[in-house]
Order: sequence, then structure tokens, then C-alpha cells
Amino acid sequence: MPAAGLRILGLMSGTSADGIDAALLDFALDGPGTLLGHWHFPYPASLQSEIFRVQERLDLGQVARLDRILGKLHGQAAASVMEEAGKASCVAMHGQTVFHRPGGPEGSTLQIGCAADVALATSCTIIHDFRRADVAAGGQGAPLVPPYHQACFAHDQPVWILNLGGVANITWVPPKGSDSPLQAFDTGPGNVLLDAAVSLLSGGKLRMDPDGSWASRGRTNRQVLASWLQMDFFRAPPPKSTGREQFQGAMVQDLWQSWKGSPDDFLATLTVLTAESVAHGARTWTPGASRMLVFGGGAKNLSLLRAIQEALPGILVEVGEHSQAIPSQALEAMAFSWLGGQCLLGKALGLASVTGQKQPVVLGHILPGPDWADLNARIREMLAGMAEP
Ligand SMILES: Nc1ncnc2c1ncn2[C@@H]1O[C@H](COP(=O)(O)OP(=O)(O)OP(=O)(O)O)[C@@H](O)[C@H]1O
Ligand SMILES: [Mg+2]
Repeated sequence: MPAAGLRILGLMSGTSADGIDAALLDFALDGPGTLLGHWHFPYPASLQSEIFRVQERLDLGQVARLDRILGKLHGQAAASVMEEAGKASCVAMHGQTVFHRPGGPEGSTLQIGCAADVALATSCTIIHDFRRADVAAGGQGAPLVPPYHQACFAHDQPVWILNLGGVANITWVPPKGSDSPLQAFDTGPGNVLLDAAVSLLSGGKLRMDPDGSWASRGRTNRQVLASWLQMDFFRAPPPKSTGREQFQGAMVQDLWQSWKGSPDDFLATLTVLTAESVAHGARTWTPGASRMLVFGGGAKNLSLLRAIQEALPGILVEVGEHSQAIPSQALEAMAFSWLGGQCLLGKALGLASVTGQKQPVVLGHILPGPDWADLNARIREMLAGMAEP
């Protein structure tokens, strides 16, 4: 009997807090699935500022308020996708990280965006809160997308997958059939320092360096760069993950205050800092590859891409969407669709070489919707189809 398909809608709102990326995935049991469509729902600048303020000065009342605001926005985004593309089988939402300090017995991470609001807006089962099970199992809770990178990009040669979100994370995907474990970690800032610097230098008029054009007018101060590269996070070995607790606007303000050159040179030097920290992480803590595929919003920053290529001579640094038919800003949302599928299957993911978890765990919490029984029947059907000779 042919297995009924599962269309899982992934919703991702990353550290940049620029908006919600949505990806509708035709889920497959034995592969990465097929992207049916992707959408972006930008946050207004005022909401982005509110998210950043809450992260800087955690206030429980504000966190609870934002939880509802973000829940409703995720619900609206999901409903509008379904109006256009038809009903999804379920929704897998990452939520918005407002706190991330993993490691140690009290390590913790918090993603908000009320799942009940999304359930009400869509009448779907919601899978959410993906990171806390990994933290409970002794992991960093991040990055979680590497097993999806492996499902998408494992071939006969190893390859690096670089995601340039607010934070940058790199995955070293071993060749298919190899015994080498998947390796991945956050390398440090992706766009976070660049966005903060642009906002500071433009007096709040700009939220990003469009295509890296501003940085392209500046020159790198190599001496200052060398001192910035001494930051503890860059020198620490994996497993490691980071967020706005470590790299944010206040850090950029401090660096700017002690800066003696022009704004253009400041932005150019921060861009090269971001690139060098990626290259340092890739060279130091992974077995190496001859090719790097770049995804995430930062893949649109040409100055950053150029700097990464210069920091990795002899490596082919490519924008992933040019060769892989996966749009730069869809990959993370696709990964959460896929992780949602793994959760529904009850599949524990082994991420010891990625997050440092002590044992494999199922990632995600399920809020069953009115379609729960039907969803379960479909999963059983898919599994039975898989088991047939
Ligand atoms: N045209 C562009 N030019 C320069 N930078 C861009 C452009 N488009 C997007 N960006 C950068 O990409 C960022 C958003 O990227 P993305 O959505 O991948 O990050 P994110 O939401 O932090 O996700 P995550 O941290 O989960 O990977 C923006 O904040 C901006 O810095
Ligand atoms: Mg984003």
C-alpha cells in the first residue's frame, strides 16, 4: 500500500530576530524530503528591538508577553502559508531563543512563542521546544540542524555546510558510508556583530549591511583583528554553542568605543573577524574538506563571502543555493520540519559529536491537535510501507 505523505511546515525564527522563515516539506522517512515552498514573514523593527531588549534584561512579565505575541505571529504565518499551499499535516516550530546558556548541571536554553496560539490558528498538531531535551541530556542544545545537513549533503567527499544566521554554525559532513562521526558547532558570530554595527553606525536607520556593500568600502585593520580573535569563545574546543548572551550590541559598542579608525574600516574589520572565526573553527576542529556550501541570510553578504574565501585558500566556498536548489534562508526551517518528523516517529537522535549530549534523545515536545489520531495513522502507514519488502 503506498504510504500517505506527511507535509510538515517548519517555522524558524533565529538569533537575528529578523522574522519567521517557513518551509513546507514533503517529509520522507529515508532522506531529506522535498521542499514544496518557502516563505519569509519579516518582524517589524519595533518587535526585533523588543526581542533584543528582553534578551539583554530578562523580565519575566515581558518574556511571557512576548511569548504570546510571537505565538500569534507564528500562528498567522502558518495560517497564511496553509491558505496558499493547503493544509499541512503538522507544524514544527523552533520559536525565538531568548536565553541560551548551556553546559553544566544547570545549563539552560529557552525558546518562546506560545505553541497553543499556533495550534488555535491552524488546528494542527504542533511540535516545538526542540532544544531542551538535548540540554537535559547534557548537550549544548545547539546546533541541531547538522543531522539534516547530513541527510541532505552526504556524498562521496566530505563537505562543510556553513549556516550564516545571527550566529554561525558549521557542520562537517563525512562521506557516505564513512565511520567518521558528523562534527558541528557554533563558530561564533554570523551576522550578529555586523547587524549591530550597522545599526549603531547608521543611528538605527539600517538593520543590515545590504549585500556587504558598506563593508566593501573599508579596509581591515589586521592588528586590531588579531586582538579580537583572541576572544575565549574562538579558542574553546567543541562542543560549543553561543547566542546573543555572548555576541551582541553591547560588545559592538565597546569595540567601537576603543576603535580609532573610520566606520567603514570598523565594519570591514568586523566582517573579516566573522570570516576568520569561521575559518579558524573549520580548520582547527574538523577533519577538513575541499568544499564549503554557505547558507543563511549571511550568504547574501558578498563582503563576508569574499572574506571567508580569502580565509580558506584552496577551498571552494560556494553559496549553497547556487548549486543545491535549496534557498539560503529555507534550509534551517526545512531542518526543523525534518526534526519535527523525527519527533513524531519517536526517533532518538544521537548528537554526541555535535552537542556533546551524553545519550541520544527524542527532540521536541508535541501538542496534539484535533488531527492527532489521523496523523498517527499516517505515520504507522508510512512505517508499514517502509517495512514492506
Ligand atoms: N541582502 C542581504 N545583505 C546582507 N545581509 C543580509 C541580506 N539578507 C539577509 N542578510 C543577513 O541575514 C540575517 C538573517 O539571516 P537568517 O535569517 O539566516 O538568520 P537567523 O534568523 O539569525 O537564523 P539562525 O540564527 O537560526 O541561523 C539578517 O539579519 C542580515 O544580517
Ligand atoms: Mg532569520
